[in-house]
Amino acid sequence: MDTRQHWDRVYETKAPTDVSWFSPHLETSLGIIRRVAPNRSMSIIDVGGGESTLVDDLLAEGYCNVAVMDISGTAIGHCKKRLGKLADKVTWIVADITKAEIPVHSYDVWHDRAVFHFLTEPADRLEYVRRVTSTVKPGGHVIIGAFGPEGPSKCSGLDVMRYDVDSLHAEFGGRFRLMESSKELHQTPFGTTQQFLYCYCILE
Ligand SMILES: C[S@@+](CC[C@H](N)C(=O)[O-])C[C@H]1O[C@@H](n2cnc3c(N)ncnc32)[C@H](O)[C@@H]1O
Repeated sequence: MDTRQHWDRVYETKAPTDVSWFSPHLETSLGIIRRVAPNRSMSIIDVGGGESTLVDDLLAEGYCNVAVMDISGTAIGHCKKRLGKLADKVTWIVADITKAEIPVHSYDVWHDRAVFHFLTEPADRLEYVRRVTSTVKPGGHVIIGAFGPEGPSKCSGLDVMRYDVDSLHAEFGGRFRLMESSKELHQTPFGTTQQFLYCYCILE
């Protein structure tokens, strides 16, 4: 089964609240986005957004230039249905982030919660970083939430990477100026916790 089939199967067979990464609201992500993007017309892409409610919350706060990308058309379809008419305000992209063609300098903010850590092949990580570097406007904001050093070694049945601040920053390189980092203990719907590491960088 390839990556797209895997994720489509997940979103076809599980309710949004029945996946370990579910959170009613991505409060940490929202908190960072509010601070780095005070202007509601700033363009934001949520990479691997899945069925998360980040897009709902961004729209509710007045952000009017939001895109959601995911490899799973099923997840994007469910999000559109949930949002109803509001879905027309969002740019939806079904694509693999390691292969997607995204216009150069098209976003002020790049957000990724729980996607980069699935890239276990160095070549895929290089493709990802190439895309962030070309897609985000110079001086733009990059927010990555990945499993921390004490995070799980698998998620959704797939192997994942775990990162501390230095190893995550090293994947992105010197053009990414590290502004802040924080750890979060995500409470899964199953009563367990997962350690996440958030890094926020400015692309120079
Ligand atoms: C663990 S979920 C996180 C979803 C969402 N970001 C959240 O925090 O609720 C990982 C998401 O990444 C998507 N994904 C996995 N590999 C991807 C890739 N190569 N390109 C784009 N999306 C991908 C999956 O479809 C899934 O929605």
